[in-house]
Amino acid sequence: MSIEEIIAGRLDKLQEAGCLRRIPQPDADCIDFTSNDYLGLAKRRAEFSEEFADTFGRADFTSSASRLLAQHQDIYTEFELFTGALYDRKALLFNSGYHANVGAVSSLASLPGALVIADKLIHASIIDGLRLSGARFHRFPHNDMKALERIIERNASDGQPVIVIAESIYSMDGDLAPLQELVNLKHRRPEIFLYLDEAHALGVMGKRGLGLAEELGLLPEIDLIVGTLGKALASSGAFIAASESICNFLINSARSFIFSTCLPPASAAWSLLMMKKMVDMQSERDRLRNLAERTRKGLESITSEESESRSQILPFMVGDAEKAVMLSEALRRKGLNVLPIRHPTVPAGTERLRISLSASHSESDIERLLQALTELK
Ligand SMILES: Cc1ncc(COP(=O)(O)O)c(C=O)c1O
Repeated sequence: MSIEEIIAGRLDKLQEAGCLRRIPQPDADCIDFTSNDYLGLAKRRAEFSEEFADTFGRADFTSSASRLLAQHQDIYTEFELFTGALYDRKALLFNSGYHANVGAVSSLASLPGALVIADKLIHASIIDGLRLSGARFHRFPHNDMKALERIIERNASDGQPVIVIAESIYSMDGDLAPLQELVNLKHRRPEIFLYLDEAHALGVMGKRGLGLAEELGLLPEIDLIVGTLGKALASSGAFIAASESICNFLINSARSFIFSTCLPPASAAWSLLMMKKMVDMQSERDRLRNLAERTRKGLESITSEESESRSQILPFMVGDAEKAVMLSEALRRKGLNVLPIRHPTVPAGTERLRISLSASHSESDIERLLQALTELK
């Protein structure tokens, strides 16, 4: 059989299972519930373009080399100093959240003797980092602290570092990591190193929008924080906030950092401007929280089930790939864009619509969505 024939067979199977992924066609007439523009910053680009032009308008569109070879480092350094100061530690810029996780997780998991334990629902980029490390790792059932402790007790030996990996807001369920409990566990077991991916909480939670750790007053307790810039920050790229030695270690070991042309300086400059704006966007954070609360209550009354979500990401559970696609199409005909999430992105049988809210949504957008779901369920 030729490669083309094998691939055709694979694609047919995905199609039959209702799991064939396609790049969706944007529909400007639809209300969008798919993007991760949580603060509505991407929609407000024009508002900031003059300031951007005045301050960073001459920034280049290419760095022409990896960060270790690039000639013009000023804007990257400025971004890292600003972001590092917010988190009271060092920051290191990466090309994307995917690059950050693959690079950092593979580097840390490769350390001799490290025991790595990750939540069952962590993002694919973390799993890929673990696989790339070639190290043995464990997964604990989602948010199950008892199971996590059992894995540590069974597998940790004296003096061995234990890396525990979690996300602050889980990207497909919208629920939160039990961060306070994780920190309590770390107090009992100081060998724990807490790795927290704040991709969906950056901009959204905390007094300055730094994420769940800031919201709970736990920032100093987290050893490594990943923040992504392509979601609430309306830009692209990501950063890791960690100690100086960890950042230096990543500069020397994270292959996604070393062997990839770094972000265009213009993009880093835009990220810096967006970080500066985001810090003061408390009213947008409050608005998003209120919209999420209203949506959650509405969904609970439609499904008669309590929602696990505690954030701006709300799953509408369907439990079947084909049905999820059909429901998404029906919503689109009603002028609402909500994407179906299928296996393997989520476990089989938990297929759903993923409703992603933004401070730019209006109350009537939410009511239209709830009304449509009530009619279609
Ligand atoms: C939790 C989490 N981490 C990392 C990433 C990857 O970030 P990026 O899109 O910047 O590559 C995502 C993307 O959806 C994510 O949800």
